[in-house]
Amino acid sequence: ASEGFTICCRYVSKAAPKTQVEFDYDGPSMKTSVPGTRSQNVGAINFFCNYDESRGNYLVDVDGNRMLDIYTQISSIPIGYNHPALLKLMSNPNNLSTLVNRPALGILPPENFPNKLTESLLSVAPSGMGRVQTMACGSCSNENAYKAMFIWYRNKERGHNIPSDEDLNVPGCPELSILSFMGAFHGRTMGCLATTHSKAIHKLDVPSFDWPIAPFPKLQYPLEEFSRENAQEEARCLEEVEDLIVKWRQKGKPVAGIVIEPIQAEGGDNHASPDFFRSLRNIACKHGCAFHVDEVQTGGGNTGKFWAHEHWGMDDPADIVSFSKKLLTGGYYHKDELQADKPYRIFNTWMGDPSKNLLLAEVLNVIRKENLLEEVTRSGKALINGLYELQAQYPGILSRARGQGTFCAIDICDDATRSSILLKARDKGVLLGGCGDRSIRFRPALVFKDYHVHIFLNIFNEVLAQHK
Ligand SMILES: Cc1ncc(COP(=O)(O)O)c(C=O)c1O
Repeated sequence: ASEGFTICCRYVSKAAPKTQVEFDYDGPSMKTSVPGTRSQNVGAINFFCNYDESRGNYLVDVDGNRMLDIYTQISSIPIGYNHPALLKLMSNPNNLSTLVNRPALGILPPENFPNKLTESLLSVAPSGMGRVQTMACGSCSNENAYKAMFIWYRNKERGHNIPSDEDLNVPGCPELSILSFMGAFHGRTMGCLATTHSKAIHKLDVPSFDWPIAPFPKLQYPLEEFSRENAQEEARCLEEVEDLIVKWRQKGKPVAGIVIEPIQAEGGDNHASPDFFRSLRNIACKHGCAFHVDEVQTGGGNTGKFWAHEHWGMDDPADIVSFSKKLLTGGYYHKDELQADKPYRIFNTWMGDPSKNLLLAEVLNVIRKENLLEEVTRSGKALINGLYELQAQYPGILSRARGQGTFCAIDICDDATRSSILLKARDKGVLLGGCGDRSIRFRPALVFKDYHVHIFLNIFNEVLAQHK
Protein backbone atom coordinates (compact mmCIF):
# COMPACT_ATOMS: atom_id res chain seq x y z
CA ALA A 1 0.00 0.00 0.00
CA SER A 2 1.14 3.52 -0.71
CA GLU A 3 1.87 6.02 2.00
CA GLY A 4 -1.48 7.76 1.54
CA PHE A 5 -3.25 4.48 2.02
CA THR A 6 -1.40 3.84 5.29
CA ILE A 7 -2.49 7.25 6.50
CA CYS A 8 -6.07 6.55 5.53
CA CYS A 9 -5.99 3.15 7.20
CA ARG A 10 -4.89 4.73 10.41
CA TYR A 11 -8.03 6.83 10.38
CA VAL A 12 -10.20 3.74 10.67
CA SER A 13 -8.84 2.84 14.08
CA LYS A 14 -10.56 5.96 15.42
CA ALA A 15 -13.83 4.44 16.61
CA ALA A 16 -17.03 6.33 17.23
CA PRO A 17 -17.52 7.26 20.89
CA LYS A 18 -20.04 4.95 22.59
CA THR A 19 -22.56 7.73 23.23
CA GLN A 20 -22.68 8.41 19.51
CA VAL A 21 -23.32 4.82 18.49
CA GLU A 22 -26.72 4.96 20.19
CA PHE A 23 -27.93 7.41 17.54
CA ASP A 24 -25.74 6.23 14.72
CA TYR A 25 -24.35 2.93 13.47
CA ASP A 26 -20.66 2.18 13.83
CA GLY A 27 -19.96 1.75 10.12
CA PRO A 28 -21.36 0.68 6.75
CA SER A 29 -22.60 -2.88 6.33
CA MET A 30 -23.26 -4.24 2.86
CA LYS A 31 -25.22 -7.40 2.02
CA THR A 32 -25.67 -6.94 -1.73
CA SER A 33 -24.53 -4.57 -4.44
CA VAL A 34 -26.89 -1.59 -4.78
CA PRO A 35 -29.61 -1.65 -6.01
CA GLY A 36 -30.08 -5.08 -4.46
CA THR A 37 -32.62 -7.77 -5.26
CA ARG A 38 -35.53 -6.20 -3.37
CA SER A 39 -34.86 -2.76 -4.78
CA GLN A 40 -35.70 -1.45 -8.21
CA ASN A 41 -34.01 1.20 -10.15
CA VAL A 42 -36.24 2.93 -12.64
CA GLY A 43 -35.80 6.36 -14.16
CA ALA A 44 -34.15 8.63 -11.63
CA ILE A 45 -34.74 6.23 -8.71
CA ASN A 46 -31.44 4.92 -7.35
CA PHE A 47 -32.91 2.34 -4.93
CA PHE A 48 -35.69 2.00 -2.35
CA CYS A 49 -34.98 2.87 1.26
CA ASN A 50 -35.88 1.68 4.72
CA TYR A 51 -36.31 4.88 6.69
CA ASP A 52 -37.31 3.02 9.87
CA GLU A 53 -33.89 1.41 10.09
CA SER A 54 -31.88 4.41 8.91
CA ARG A 55 -30.11 6.22 11.70
CA GLY A 56 -27.73 9.15 12.12
CA ASN A 57 -25.34 9.29 9.18
CA TYR A 58 -26.47 5.95 7.77
CA LEU A 59 -29.16 5.29 5.18
CA VAL A 60 -30.43 1.70 5.07
CA ASP A 61 -31.98 0.30 1.86
CA VAL A 62 -34.71 -2.35 1.41
CA ASP A 63 -32.05 -5.06 1.06
CA GLY A 64 -30.62 -4.21 4.45
CA ASN A 65 -27.54 -2.45 3.08
CA ARG A 66 -26.37 0.28 5.42
CA MET A 67 -24.54 3.15 3.72
CA LEU A 68 -22.66 6.13 5.12
CA ASP A 69 -24.72 8.92 3.57
CA ILE A 70 -22.65 11.85 2.29
CA TYR A 71 -25.38 13.03 -0.06
CA THR A 72 -28.27 13.22 2.47
CA GLN A 73 -31.31 13.41 0.19
CA ILE A 74 -29.73 16.05 -2.06
CA SER A 75 -28.31 17.92 0.93
CA SER A 76 -31.56 18.19 2.84
CA ILE A 77 -31.11 16.18 6.08
CA PRO A 78 -29.85 18.53 8.79
CA ILE A 79 -29.09 16.29 11.78
CA GLY A 80 -29.15 12.74 10.44
CA TYR A 81 -31.90 10.13 10.17
CA ASN A 82 -34.33 9.50 13.04
CA HIS A 83 -32.66 11.90 15.44
CA PRO A 84 -33.98 11.07 18.95
CA ALA A 85 -34.88 14.72 19.63
CA LEU A 86 -37.11 14.79 16.55
CA LEU A 87 -38.69 11.41 17.31
CA LYS A 88 -39.51 12.65 20.80
CA LEU A 89 -41.08 15.81 19.43
CA MET A 90 -43.26 13.81 17.05
CA SER A 91 -44.43 11.49 19.81
CA ASN A 92 -45.63 14.40 21.95
CA PRO A 93 -49.49 14.38 21.88
CA ASN A 94 -49.49 18.19 22.06
CA ASN A 95 -48.02 18.27 18.58
CA LEU A 96 -50.55 15.92 17.01
CA SER A 97 -52.95 18.56 15.70
CA THR A 98 -50.05 20.35 13.96
CA LEU A 99 -49.21 17.10 12.18
CA VAL A 100 -52.77 16.20 11.27
CA ASN A 101 -54.15 19.56 10.14
CA ARG A 102 -52.30 21.32 7.38
CA PRO A 103 -53.65 24.86 7.16
CA ALA A 104 -53.91 27.32 4.29
CA LEU A 105 -51.33 29.44 6.07
CA GLY A 106 -51.95 32.65 4.12
CA ILE A 107 -55.53 32.96 5.34
CA LEU A 108 -55.94 30.75 8.44
CA PRO A 109 -52.65 30.40 10.32
CA PRO A 110 -52.61 28.61 13.69
CA GLU A 111 -52.76 30.72 16.83
CA ASN A 112 -49.13 30.20 17.80
CA PHE A 113 -47.61 30.55 14.32
CA PRO A 114 -45.92 33.96 14.80
CA ASN A 115 -44.33 32.69 18.05
CA LYS A 116 -43.19 29.52 16.36
CA LEU A 117 -41.57 31.55 13.58
CA THR A 118 -39.78 33.70 16.15
CA GLU A 119 -38.49 30.54 17.80
CA SER A 120 -37.43 28.91 14.55
CA LEU A 121 -36.79 30.81 11.32
CA LEU A 122 -36.50 34.29 12.80
CA SER A 123 -33.97 33.12 15.40
CA VAL A 124 -31.53 32.52 12.53
CA ALA A 125 -32.55 35.46 10.33
CA PRO A 126 -29.71 36.85 8.20
CA SER A 127 -28.29 40.22 9.20
CA GLY A 128 -30.59 43.13 8.29
CA MET A 129 -33.62 40.94 7.58
CA GLY A 130 -36.48 40.88 10.06
CA ARG A 131 -39.15 39.33 7.88
CA VAL A 132 -39.69 35.84 6.62
CA GLN A 133 -42.16 34.33 4.17
CA THR A 134 -42.52 30.55 4.35
CA MET A 135 -43.10 28.47 1.22
CA ALA A 136 -43.19 24.77 0.41
CA CYS A 137 -39.95 24.12 -1.51
CA GLY A 138 -36.85 25.75 -2.95
CA SER A 139 -38.31 26.51 -6.36
CA CYS A 140 -41.48 28.13 -5.07
CA SER A 141 -39.39 30.16 -2.61
CA ASN A 142 -37.30 31.56 -5.45
CA GLU A 143 -40.29 31.95 -7.73
CA ASN A 144 -42.06 34.12 -5.14
CA ALA A 145 -38.87 35.95 -4.19
CA TYR A 146 -38.55 37.00 -7.85
CA LYS A 147 -42.13 38.26 -7.80
CA ALA A 148 -41.41 40.24 -4.63
CA MET A 149 -38.41 41.87 -6.36
CA PHE A 150 -40.51 42.83 -9.40
CA ILE A 151 -43.31 44.26 -7.24
CA TRP A 152 -40.75 46.23 -5.22
CA TYR A 153 -39.08 47.51 -8.41
CA ARG A 154 -42.31 48.68 -10.05
CA ASN A 155 -43.47 50.48 -6.89
CA LYS A 156 -40.08 52.14 -6.73
CA GLU A 157 -40.44 53.28 -10.35
CA ARG A 158 -43.96 54.60 -9.72
CA GLY A 159 -42.94 56.31 -6.50
CA HIS A 160 -46.00 54.79 -4.79
CA ASN A 161 -47.88 51.51 -4.75
CA ILE A 162 -51.06 52.50 -6.53
CA PRO A 163 -51.13 50.97 -10.02
CA SER A 164 -52.41 53.17 -12.86
CA ASP A 165 -55.47 52.28 -14.96
CA GLU A 166 -53.09 51.43 -17.76
CA ASP A 167 -51.19 49.03 -15.47
CA LEU A 168 -54.42 47.30 -14.58
CA ASN A 169 -55.76 47.18 -18.13
CA VAL A 170 -52.66 45.38 -19.35
CA PRO A 171 -51.71 43.68 -16.13
CA GLY A 172 -48.71 41.59 -15.41
CA CYS A 173 -46.41 42.39 -18.28
CA PRO A 174 -43.73 44.97 -17.45
CA GLU A 175 -40.50 44.45 -19.36
CA LEU A 176 -38.27 43.71 -16.38
CA SER A 177 -35.49 41.18 -15.97
CA ILE A 178 -33.44 39.28 -13.39
CA LEU A 179 -29.71 38.89 -13.86
CA SER A 180 -28.35 35.44 -13.11
CA PHE A 181 -25.05 33.63 -13.64
CA MET A 182 -23.79 30.95 -16.00
CA GLY A 183 -23.68 27.64 -14.15
CA ALA A 184 -26.39 28.74 -11.68
CA PHE A 185 -29.18 26.51 -10.42
CA HIS A 186 -32.26 28.12 -8.89
CA GLY A 187 -34.93 25.50 -9.63
CA ARG A 188 -36.94 24.08 -12.51
CA THR A 189 -40.22 26.01 -12.45
CA MET A 190 -40.65 28.48 -15.31
CA GLY A 191 -39.34 31.63 -13.60
CA CYS A 192 -36.56 29.82 -11.75
CA LEU A 193 -35.60 27.95 -14.89
CA ALA A 194 -35.03 31.25 -16.67
CA THR A 195 -32.21 31.83 -14.16
CA THR A 196 -30.94 28.22 -14.11
CA HIS A 197 -28.00 27.51 -16.42
CA SER A 198 -26.30 24.42 -15.05
CA LYS A 199 -27.30 21.76 -17.62
CA ALA A 200 -28.91 22.07 -21.07
CA ILE A 201 -31.28 19.17 -20.38
CA HIS A 202 -33.05 21.16 -17.62
CA LYS A 203 -34.07 23.83 -20.11
CA LEU A 204 -34.69 21.68 -23.18
CA ASP A 205 -37.99 22.51 -24.98
CA VAL A 206 -39.13 25.03 -22.34
CA PRO A 207 -39.59 28.66 -23.43
CA SER A 208 -37.85 31.25 -21.34
CA PHE A 209 -37.29 34.98 -20.81
CA ASP A 210 -34.76 37.24 -22.47
CA TRP A 211 -32.85 37.96 -19.24
CA PRO A 212 -29.15 38.73 -18.85
CA ILE A 213 -26.71 35.96 -17.85
CA ALA A 214 -23.33 37.01 -16.47
CA PRO A 215 -20.22 34.81 -16.26
CA PHE A 216 -19.57 33.29 -12.82
CA PRO A 217 -15.85 33.38 -11.93
CA LYS A 218 -13.94 30.26 -12.95
CA LEU A 219 -11.43 30.10 -10.12
CA GLN A 220 -8.31 28.01 -9.65
CA TYR A 221 -7.92 25.92 -6.49
CA PRO A 222 -6.65 25.95 -3.79
CA LEU A 223 -7.90 29.54 -3.66
CA GLU A 224 -5.00 30.75 -1.46
CA GLU A 225 -2.46 29.71 -4.09
CA PHE A 226 -4.08 31.59 -6.95
CA SER A 227 -5.32 34.76 -5.30
CA ARG A 228 -3.88 37.09 -7.97
CA GLU A 229 -5.24 35.13 -10.95
CA ASN A 230 -8.59 34.62 -9.22
CA ALA A 231 -8.93 38.32 -8.37
CA GLN A 232 -8.43 39.13 -12.06
CA GLU A 233 -11.05 36.60 -13.10
CA GLU A 234 -13.52 37.99 -10.58
CA ALA A 235 -12.89 41.56 -11.76
CA ARG A 236 -13.63 40.44 -15.34
CA CYS A 237 -16.97 38.94 -14.28
CA LEU A 238 -17.96 42.00 -12.24
CA GLU A 239 -17.24 44.24 -15.18
CA GLU A 240 -19.46 42.06 -17.33
CA VAL A 241 -22.25 42.27 -14.74
CA GLU A 242 -22.25 46.06 -14.91
CA ASP A 243 -22.13 46.01 -18.71
CA LEU A 244 -25.14 43.69 -18.83
CA ILE A 245 -27.14 45.82 -16.40
CA VAL A 246 -26.54 48.88 -18.60
CA LYS A 247 -27.26 46.95 -21.80
CA TRP A 248 -30.57 45.55 -20.53
CA ARG A 249 -31.64 48.98 -19.29
CA GLN A 250 -30.95 50.33 -22.78
CA LYS A 251 -32.98 47.47 -24.26
CA GLY A 252 -35.92 48.60 -22.13
CA LYS A 253 -35.77 45.53 -19.86
CA PRO A 254 -34.14 46.90 -16.69
CA VAL A 255 -32.66 44.47 -14.18
CA ALA A 256 -34.96 44.45 -11.13
CA GLY A 257 -32.88 41.93 -9.24
CA ILE A 258 -29.64 39.93 -9.24
CA VAL A 259 -29.82 36.33 -8.03
CA ILE A 260 -26.77 34.30 -7.01
CA GLU A 261 -25.75 31.26 -4.96
CA PRO A 262 -22.91 31.79 -2.45
CA ILE A 263 -21.40 28.59 -3.87
CA GLN A 264 -22.81 27.37 -7.17
CA ALA A 265 -23.83 23.88 -6.11
CA GLU A 266 -25.63 21.90 -8.84
CA GLY A 267 -23.45 23.71 -11.37
CA GLY A 268 -20.28 22.06 -10.00
CA ASP A 269 -19.40 23.62 -6.61
CA ASN A 270 -17.98 26.84 -8.00
CA HIS A 271 -16.68 29.22 -5.36
CA ALA A 272 -16.05 32.95 -5.42
CA SER A 273 -14.32 35.16 -2.85
CA PRO A 274 -16.01 37.33 -0.18
CA ASP A 275 -14.60 40.32 -2.10
CA PHE A 276 -16.46 39.26 -5.22
CA PHE A 277 -19.78 39.06 -3.38
CA ARG A 278 -19.20 42.37 -1.57
CA SER A 279 -18.50 44.09 -4.90
CA LEU A 280 -21.54 42.47 -6.49
CA ARG A 281 -23.71 43.61 -3.60
CA ASN A 282 -22.41 47.17 -4.17
CA ILE A 283 -23.11 46.97 -7.90
CA ALA A 284 -26.71 45.92 -7.12
CA CYS A 285 -27.12 48.93 -4.80
CA LYS A 286 -25.51 51.31 -7.30
CA HIS A 287 -27.90 50.28 -10.10
CA GLY A 288 -31.02 50.03 -7.94
CA CYS A 289 -31.37 46.23 -8.35
CA ALA A 290 -32.52 44.00 -5.48
CA PHE A 291 -29.88 41.48 -4.38
CA HIS A 292 -31.19 37.94 -3.87
CA VAL A 293 -28.91 35.32 -2.32
CA ASP A 294 -30.17 31.79 -2.96
CA GLU A 295 -29.11 29.73 0.07
CA VAL A 296 -31.36 26.76 -0.72
CA GLN A 297 -28.35 24.42 -0.80
CA THR A 298 -25.73 26.39 1.16
CA GLY A 299 -27.99 27.39 4.08
CA GLY A 300 -28.33 25.45 7.31
CA GLY A 301 -24.76 25.03 8.51
CA ASN A 302 -22.73 22.87 6.09
CA THR A 303 -20.23 25.63 5.35
CA GLY A 304 -19.43 26.02 9.07
CA LYS A 305 -21.66 29.09 9.39
CA PHE A 306 -25.43 28.91 9.43
CA TRP A 307 -25.59 30.95 6.21
CA ALA A 308 -22.80 30.76 3.65
CA HIS A 309 -23.09 34.51 3.08
CA GLU A 310 -21.91 35.08 6.67
CA HIS A 311 -18.42 34.27 5.34
CA TRP A 312 -18.58 37.58 3.44
CA GLY A 313 -18.56 39.52 6.73
CA MET A 314 -21.26 42.03 5.73
CA ASP A 315 -23.89 43.79 7.87
CA ASP A 316 -26.12 44.21 4.84
CA PRO A 317 -25.44 41.11 2.71
CA ALA A 318 -28.71 40.98 0.74
CA ASP A 319 -32.27 42.17 0.23
CA ILE A 320 -33.65 38.64 -0.05
CA VAL A 321 -32.26 35.29 1.13
CA SER A 322 -34.13 32.15 0.05
CA PHE A 323 -33.84 28.75 1.74
CA SER A 324 -35.25 25.22 1.82
CA LYS A 325 -33.58 21.77 2.14
CA LYS A 326 -31.86 21.67 5.60
CA LEU A 327 -34.31 24.26 6.90
CA LEU A 328 -37.04 21.64 6.29
CA THR A 329 -39.49 24.28 5.10
CA GLY A 330 -38.92 26.56 2.13
CA GLY A 331 -39.18 30.32 2.24
CA TYR A 332 -37.32 33.57 2.02
CA TYR A 333 -36.18 36.34 4.35
CA HIS A 334 -36.53 39.86 3.09
CA LYS A 335 -36.12 43.48 4.02
CA ASP A 336 -39.19 45.49 5.04
CA GLU A 337 -39.34 47.27 1.70
CA LEU A 338 -39.72 43.97 -0.15
CA GLN A 339 -42.92 43.14 1.66
CA ALA A 340 -45.62 42.85 -1.02
CA ASP A 341 -47.99 45.78 -0.65
CA LYS A 342 -51.32 43.91 -0.87
CA PRO A 343 -52.73 40.58 0.28
CA TYR A 344 -52.68 37.70 -2.22
CA ARG A 345 -49.84 39.13 -4.31
CA ILE A 346 -47.50 36.54 -2.81
CA PHE A 347 -49.79 33.64 -2.07
CA ASN A 348 -50.70 30.02 -2.54
CA THR A 349 -52.72 27.42 -0.66
CA TRP A 350 -50.22 26.06 1.83
CA MET A 351 -47.40 28.63 1.86
CA GLY A 352 -45.29 26.26 3.93
CA ASP A 353 -46.17 23.77 6.64
CA PRO A 354 -46.30 24.47 10.40
CA SER A 355 -45.28 20.86 11.20
CA LYS A 356 -41.96 21.42 9.42
CA ASN A 357 -41.53 24.56 11.45
CA LEU A 358 -42.00 22.59 14.63
CA LEU A 359 -39.25 20.20 13.56
CA LEU A 360 -36.99 23.06 12.53
CA ALA A 361 -37.22 24.70 15.98
CA GLU A 362 -35.95 21.41 17.46
CA VAL A 363 -33.24 21.02 14.80
CA LEU A 364 -31.96 24.49 15.73
CA ASN A 365 -31.93 23.52 19.42
CA VAL A 366 -29.83 20.46 18.60
CA ILE A 367 -27.44 22.52 16.44
CA ARG A 368 -26.91 24.94 19.33
CA LYS A 369 -26.76 22.33 22.11
CA GLU A 370 -24.32 20.11 20.27
CA ASN A 371 -22.25 22.99 18.81
CA LEU A 372 -22.74 21.44 15.41
CA LEU A 373 -21.36 24.40 13.44
CA GLU A 374 -18.02 23.99 15.24
CA GLU A 375 -18.18 20.27 14.58
CA VAL A 376 -18.75 20.95 10.89
CA THR A 377 -15.71 23.22 10.79
CA ARG A 378 -13.65 20.50 12.46
CA SER A 379 -14.79 17.62 10.28
CA GLY A 380 -14.65 19.89 7.22
CA LYS A 381 -10.92 20.42 7.85
CA ALA A 382 -10.36 16.67 8.13
CA LEU A 383 -12.34 16.13 4.92
CA ILE A 384 -10.56 18.73 2.79
CA ASN A 385 -7.13 17.68 4.08
CA GLY A 386 -7.96 14.06 3.27
CA LEU A 387 -9.06 15.11 -0.22
CA TYR A 388 -5.81 17.05 -0.72
CA GLU A 389 -3.85 13.93 0.25
CA LEU A 390 -5.80 11.71 -2.11
CA GLN A 391 -5.49 14.28 -4.88
CA ALA A 392 -1.70 14.21 -4.46
CA GLN A 393 -1.80 10.43 -4.49
CA TYR A 394 -4.06 10.11 -7.58
CA PRO A 395 -3.19 13.11 -9.77
CA GLY A 396 -4.45 11.28 -12.88
CA ILE A 397 -7.94 10.94 -11.39
CA LEU A 398 -8.50 13.76 -8.91
CA SER A 399 -8.11 17.52 -9.12
CA ARG A 400 -9.48 20.82 -7.81
CA ALA A 401 -10.36 19.72 -4.26
CA ARG A 402 -12.29 22.60 -2.74
CA GLY A 403 -14.70 23.40 0.03
CA GLN A 404 -15.92 25.37 2.97
CA GLY A 405 -16.80 23.38 6.11
CA THR A 406 -18.04 20.00 4.91
CA PHE A 407 -19.50 21.61 1.76
CA CYS A 408 -16.67 20.13 -0.32
CA ALA A 409 -16.15 18.82 -3.84
CA ILE A 410 -13.46 17.31 -6.01
CA ASP A 411 -13.18 16.87 -9.78
CA ILE A 412 -12.79 13.48 -11.46
CA CYS A 413 -10.85 13.12 -14.73
CA ASP A 414 -14.00 12.42 -16.80
CA ASP A 415 -17.70 11.71 -16.45
CA ALA A 416 -17.40 7.94 -17.10
CA THR A 417 -14.79 7.54 -14.34
CA ARG A 418 -16.95 9.62 -12.04
CA SER A 419 -19.95 7.33 -12.61
CA SER A 420 -17.83 4.27 -12.00
CA ILE A 421 -16.37 5.74 -8.79
CA LEU A 422 -19.82 6.71 -7.48
CA LEU A 423 -21.21 3.20 -8.09
CA LYS A 424 -18.19 1.39 -6.63
CA ALA A 425 -18.21 3.64 -3.55
CA ARG A 426 -21.92 2.87 -3.10
CA ASP A 427 -21.30 -0.87 -3.28
CA LYS A 428 -18.70 -0.41 -0.55
CA GLY A 429 -21.17 1.49 1.61
CA VAL A 430 -20.60 5.18 0.86
CA LEU A 431 -23.30 7.29 -0.80
CA LEU A 432 -22.06 10.29 -2.75
CA GLY A 433 -23.53 12.63 -5.35
CA GLY A 434 -22.24 14.29 -8.47
CA CYS A 435 -22.54 17.90 -9.57
CA GLY A 436 -21.41 19.86 -12.63
CA ASP A 437 -19.82 17.97 -15.53
CA ARG A 438 -17.41 15.82 -13.56
CA SER A 439 -17.38 16.77 -9.87
CA ILE A 440 -18.26 14.75 -6.81
CA ARG A 441 -19.91 16.78 -4.09
CA PHE A 442 -19.89 16.08 -0.37
CA ARG A 443 -23.08 16.99 1.47
CA PRO A 444 -23.09 15.17 4.80
CA ALA A 445 -25.47 15.97 7.66
CA LEU A 446 -24.23 18.30 10.41
CA VAL A 447 -23.64 15.27 12.66
CA PHE A 448 -20.87 14.01 10.35
CA LYS A 449 -17.81 13.79 12.61
CA ASP A 450 -14.10 13.23 12.20
CA TYR A 451 -14.47 9.48 12.43
CA HIS A 452 -17.06 9.45 9.65
CA VAL A 453 -14.59 11.40 7.51
CA HIS A 454 -12.00 8.72 8.16
CA ILE A 455 -14.36 5.88 7.29
CA PHE A 456 -15.14 7.68 4.05
CA LEU A 457 -11.49 8.44 3.16
CA ASN A 458 -10.52 4.85 3.66
CA ILE A 459 -13.27 3.52 1.38
CA PHE A 460 -12.73 6.27 -1.19
CA ASN A 461 -9.05 5.39 -1.29
CA GLU A 462 -9.86 1.73 -1.96
CA VAL A 463 -12.19 2.73 -4.81
CA LEU A 464 -9.62 5.08 -6.34
CA ALA A 465 -6.97 2.35 -6.19
CA GLN A 466 -9.26 0.27 -8.47
CA HIS A 467 -9.31 3.10 -11.03
CA LYS A 468 -5.57 3.72 -11.21
C1 LIG B 1 -29.42 26.68 -4.97
C2 LIG B 1 -30.72 26.00 -5.25
N1 LIG B 1 -31.81 26.74 -5.48
C3 LIG B 1 -33.01 26.18 -5.70
C4 LIG B 1 -33.17 24.82 -5.72
C5 LIG B 1 -34.53 24.22 -5.99
O1 LIG B 1 -35.04 23.67 -4.83
P1 LIG B 1 -36.21 22.56 -4.89
O2 LIG B 1 -35.60 21.35 -5.51
O3 LIG B 1 -36.61 22.37 -3.46
O4 LIG B 1 -37.30 23.13 -5.71
C6 LIG B 1 -32.05 24.00 -5.48
C7 LIG B 1 -32.20 22.53 -5.51
O5 LIG B 1 -31.27 21.78 -5.58
C8 LIG B 1 -30.80 24.61 -5.24
O6 LIG B 1 -29.71 23.87 -5.03
